[in-house]
Amino acid sequence: MILDITGSAKFVDAEELQEARQEAVDAMQGLINDYEQGENWLGWLSIAADIRPTIDKIEDAARRLRNDCEAVVMCGIGGSYLGAKAVIEALKPHFGKTEPEILFAGNNLAQDYIVEMSNYLKGKKFGIVCISKSGTTLETAIAFRVFRNQMEQESGEEFAARHIVCITDLEKGALHDIAVMNGYEMFEVPGNIGGRYSVLSAVGLLPIAVAGYDIRQLIAGAFDFYRPHRGVEACGEIIDYAALRNIMYRNGKKIELFVDFDPRLRYLGEWWKQLFGESEGKEGKGLFPASVSYTTDLHSLGQYVQEGERHLFETVVSVEHGKYEMEVPRTKDNLDKLNKYSWYTIGYINSVAEKGVRMAHIDGGVPNLRIAIPQINEYHLGQLIYFFELVCAVSGRMLGVNPFDQPGVEAYKANIKKLL
Ligand code: PA5
Repeated sequence: MILDITGSAKFVDAEELQEARQEAVDAMQGLINDYEQGENWLGWLSIAADIRPTIDKIEDAARRLRNDCEAVVMCGIGGSYLGAKAVIEALKPHFGKTEPEILFAGNNLAQDYIVEMSNYLKGKKFGIVCISKSGTTLETAIAFRVFRNQMEQESGEEFAARHIVCITDLEKGALHDIAVMNGYEMFEVPGNIGGRYSVLSAVGLLPIAVAGYDIRQLIAGAFDFYRPHRGVEACGEIIDYAALRNIMYRNGKKIELFVDFDPRLRYLGEWWKQLFGESEGKEGKGLFPASVSYTTDLHSLGQYVQEGERHLFETVVSVEHGKYEMEVPRTKDNLDKLNKYSWYTIGYINSVAEKGVRMAHIDGGVPNLRIAIPQINEYHLGQLIYFFELVCAVSGRMLGVNPFDQPGVEAYKANIKKLL
């Protein structure tokens, strides 16, 4: 993974950058000290090492669901869903059904969505992975009720007992109680890891393994990027990204746009938005995290990015090599005059588009950071996830907020309860 900050150079004063880097180093050091003193909420820092003894058990459960089920419903919302969704969307083929089919539920309260999923599952052997740290989240709990009832009625309680897996607090909570009472297999959401930092725990790993992807490689990517124990000197990219986001914010940039040039990464953008939005958006502060997928969105939001209000900067996640190569085909009539490009691959044209877009946006007053990975696979996704988590924790500290709580999320929940 490479972080290229040259696209921010003309917007940032060298002295300002040096000062912010020092602040980021202090924040990183603070994070490491807190971790060493056993401070709460920092379990994710060492999860790539700590999860290793549980990997076999996760893979066994995944194998059972993969072997016995045509579809598996993943119930969860927010941090209990987005990480797995991001990795699976990045790795799965664009077209055709996967085996088993992975369905996500419990991430909205849209009645039609649930009814249509229930109808779709009728007559199919399906499994359920229910993920909720608190065990009481309404969206997840309602979906779990619906699909658990359906499974018990259609396939019987014995099948349900073997094909429902719960990921939750191992000591308390409604989901914990349901699992214990019914003998469902359980995995832990570690108490010292918040939802949005939990993708490398069983929360993300089990759904990803059920989808058939290599969770050992995902963990290896994060583990190899496990820089903090090598000291802050080894954390150059983390320091630079955290420092630059904070400089941008202080200098009037209010929106950070996560940009991909490959639709496989769209859900990584969704996960990234939750990570940064829920971690930093508090006490009247924080960059607003938004995401776009180019070149698609150049034909919708491109005009705004190029010439609208200058309150945004871009962070591009760039993929150097695709899975396949295809050249632009030649045609006999050449009416569209594209034969002159026919020795270029479509991937090369996309990379040229990326360069051209970055240049245009920088010229238009949009600072640009670029994170490049060689290709989309489990290893590089693991690295990226861990990198963003580290940056978020450091950046939140620099901003002066607690990047691990989300007190504001409770307000709407309390209203729903009252109104119901
Ligand atoms: O990051 C977070 O903590 C939240 O987004 C939670 O993951 C989300 O609210 C779901 O909570 P729970 O896992 O308790 O159902």
